[in-house]
Amino acid sequence: MLTGSAQWKQLVAHHQDVEHIHMRDLFKQDPKRFANYSLTAAGITLDYSKNKLTAQSLPLLIELAKSVDFEQHRSDMFSGLPINLTENRPVLHTALRNFSDKPVMVNGQDVMPDIRAALSKVKNFVNNISSGEVKGYTGKAFTDVVSIGIGGSFLGPKIMSEALKPYQQKQLKVHFIANVDGCHITDVLAKLNPQTTLFITSSKTLTTQETLRNTYSAKEWFLTHASQAEIAKHFACVSSNVSAAKEFGISEEYIFPMWDWVGGRYSVWSTIGLPLALSIGFDNYQQFLQGAFEVDEHFQTAPLHENMPVIMALLGIWYRNFHGAQSQVLLPYYHYLRGLPAYIQQLDMESNGKSVSFNNEEVNYDTGPIIWGSEGTNGQHSFHQLIHQSRTPIPVDFMLPLKPFHELANHHDMLAANCFGQSQALMEGQSETQVRAAMVKAKCSEDEINTLSSHKVMKGNKPSNTFLFDTLDPKTLGSLIALYEHKVFVQGVIWQINSFDQWGVELGKALGSQVLSKLSDSEEPLTMDGSTNALIERYRKRLTK
Ligand code: F6P
Repeated sequence: MLTGSAQWKQLVAHHQDVEHIHMRDLFKQDPKRFANYSLTAAGITLDYSKNKLTAQSLPLLIELAKSVDFEQHRSDMFSGLPINLTENRPVLHTALRNFSDKPVMVNGQDVMPDIRAALSKVKNFVNNISSGEVKGYTGKAFTDVVSIGIGGSFLGPKIMSEALKPYQQKQLKVHFIANVDGCHITDVLAKLNPQTTLFITSSKTLTTQETLRNTYSAKEWFLTHASQAEIAKHFACVSSNVSAAKEFGISEEYIFPMWDWVGGRYSVWSTIGLPLALSIGFDNYQQFLQGAFEVDEHFQTAPLHENMPVIMALLGIWYRNFHGAQSQVLLPYYHYLRGLPAYIQQLDMESNGKSVSFNNEEVNYDTGPIIWGSEGTNGQHSFHQLIHQSRTPIPVDFMLPLKPFHELANHHDMLAANCFGQSQALMEGQSETQVRAAMVKAKCSEDEINTLSSHKVMKGNKPSNTFLFDTLDPKTLGSLIALYEHKVFVQGVIWQINSFDQWGVELGKALGSQVLSKLSDSEEPLTMDGSTNALIERYRKRLTK
């Protein structure tokens, strides 16, 4: 087991050595700390100097990665070996953004020609819809696209499209529906004209209850205005289940294939990205793929101590397994990137929220952290209090574009100042002596100082990373997402878990279906636990009250 390895034990000992060191002192000892603990890849600079690292820390963490043969796992992923062991599938989202001329072999066959053909189908479709060449059933150009999908078939296109708002095409508005809560689809459809609305159902499996229900409701709505024959012009589908899409009545021309070797949460690079490409235009979408490709190259070639996703992963392991951090907070200081925490939440928590190893053994160490966060500066007036002063360690990822898309005076300086000021406050804190001196200067009474000073002390020594980039253009966004994908991969390898299955979500789906049959048939006997039976009974009575 990992925890019995010499490398793990060395890290336990190293943690004891550094536990009482304050980062403030590390900065005093090493004026070049920023230069020594920062790097740039694909136009993104990562400052990781405000972390609890001494000169020994990273080498020891790298030894841990080497001890589990990380480099071999990485090459197995890129070369198409079935590393998703429980589903016996390769993991090839990287092939979807492979702009090299290298083939990618799956079962002896190069998958690149199929990938290029699918991308070219996306390109033609996006260009035809955007230019108005392909029209709706009354001959009008499309003005709205409704993308229906959930999980990875929703978060990627929606959040990337939101993050790239300055690049969105003016003539086409893309709406996203995920939740089966009828409020959402009702609200979206209320604003739309069926003659100019295109629907895209995105579902890798095309068995997802929420997505099917929403698609049927969209179809019913459409048919109140148009005839069955017109469905073919207004409904498209992205799925690896092509036969089910055909059964659904989607015309072959409007079916966009994907593959079982792309995980849902890694699928924005596949045809699942179609709504995103419609939102920002195909060229921008291709730039997004290009950004991820650049990071793939960096990830495969940079030495481990200069490899950004590796460093991000090792820092995460350091805090999760040796400092007891249960969560990681993401703080984008950029309004359009506000959805990023939700995207990384699925990516990380669905990938690494596991406790059984490659060898089918229950692990005895913590794996994936809880991922959360929101846009800065809003959190500063809310949950940052707990990050600054509670006993709970929460490593932070700050991120900030250097140039905004607006020209409002002072806003961006204030945003940047807050971002940098927060990481400084977390790291340095404020000692009792400093607090008392400030209170004396503010002419506080002796009594006030004695009562309040301990409350105002900030211990500091709270770790954070800061990511800076020029602007959040499509390429940079692609790079940023790929950095997190590879971070999650490296951590999964170190924890020896399969980051690419998601068995934990299946039971809830099965029980949800069972309960649904009992809700729709009030004669069905209730044979579940006392709580669930009572809840169903109460629900059944709702119409009689
Ligand atoms: O329920 C979890 C999940 O399977 C995710 O992994 C996936 O992204 C989402 O559901 C949607 O699945 P599909 O694309 O097959 O509809």
